[in-house]
Amino acid sequence: MAKIIDGKKISTEIKEECKTVVTQLKEKGKEVCLAVVQVGADPASSVYVRNKTRACEYVGMLSRTYELPEETTQEELLTLVNELNYDDGVDGILVQLPLPKHINEDVITQSILPEKDVDGFHNQNVGALVTGQEGFISCTPAGIIELLKRSNIEIEGKHCVVVGRSNIVGKPMALLLLKENGTVTICHSKTKNLKEITKQADILIAAIGKPKFFDDSYIREGAVVIDVGIHRSGNNKLCGDVDFEKVESKVSAITPVPGGVGPMTIAMLMYNCIKAVQRRVQ
Ligand code: GUN
Repeated sequence: MAKIIDGKKISTEIKEECKTVVTQLKEKGKEVCLAVVQVGADPASSVYVRNKTRACEYVGMLSRTYELPEETTQEELLTLVNELNYDDGVDGILVQLPLPKHINEDVITQSILPEKDVDGFHNQNVGALVTGQEGFISCTPAGIIELLKRSNIEIEGKHCVVVGRSNIVGKPMALLLLKENGTVTICHSKTKNLKEITKQADILIAAIGKPKFFDDSYIREGAVVIDVGIHRSGNNKLCGDVDFEKVESKVSAITPVPGGVGPMTIAMLMYNCIKAVQRRVQ
């Protein structure tokens, strides 16, 4: 029987730990505050932003939400980010992606001060991850490492196959698994014989962005499968990159969708906001 890795439960544990630290910081007179910026009214982004501000409330943090119209110019957005950068009442800044086409996402993510970049997207934080220095780590891959560790799944010496090479998930994921002494293979859209490689995985990280792409023919018996995808299928039900029903009986452990990786991203965002304060006050 496969172990179902309960991301909801583990994320709640992490948020409870955050709550304790937030209370201790408050006792020392320090509030933790996250600024969340959304441009336009993409419905999926609105749900994510709402969930992020709710999580702040849950752990006792302050949040400020900035909902800017779709027509906001890059200059106007840069001006807001700059104000937040130098606002002592703000510890973390998150600009929700994707941004409207007329705004260059790179310019915006690199304009956030690295010490407030709780998404871990700034080149200084990415560079710190590459060289093993202290910095903010992108929340989804950081959450996956927590899921594995708190489920007592050993990474050291394991063949970890990451399918997807995005800056937000695939690349930082590969680096984090490497840091944990995994043997890492990164696959992407130009990879030949994908199935032959994923069938060698002890730990498969599925971040290909295609609903139910990975069926049992891609998976080795007894593998651990982490599903990063989130899609709405035909009947309006949520599903991941993995065909859960076909794969479940073959694996040793698997994350469900919903309730696997998703809740971890927000828990790690809370963790990063606290880290931002701790780094500033020390
Ligand atoms: N859009 C989808 N995921 C994320 C994320 O982790 N951070 C931000 N800023 N935008 C996103």
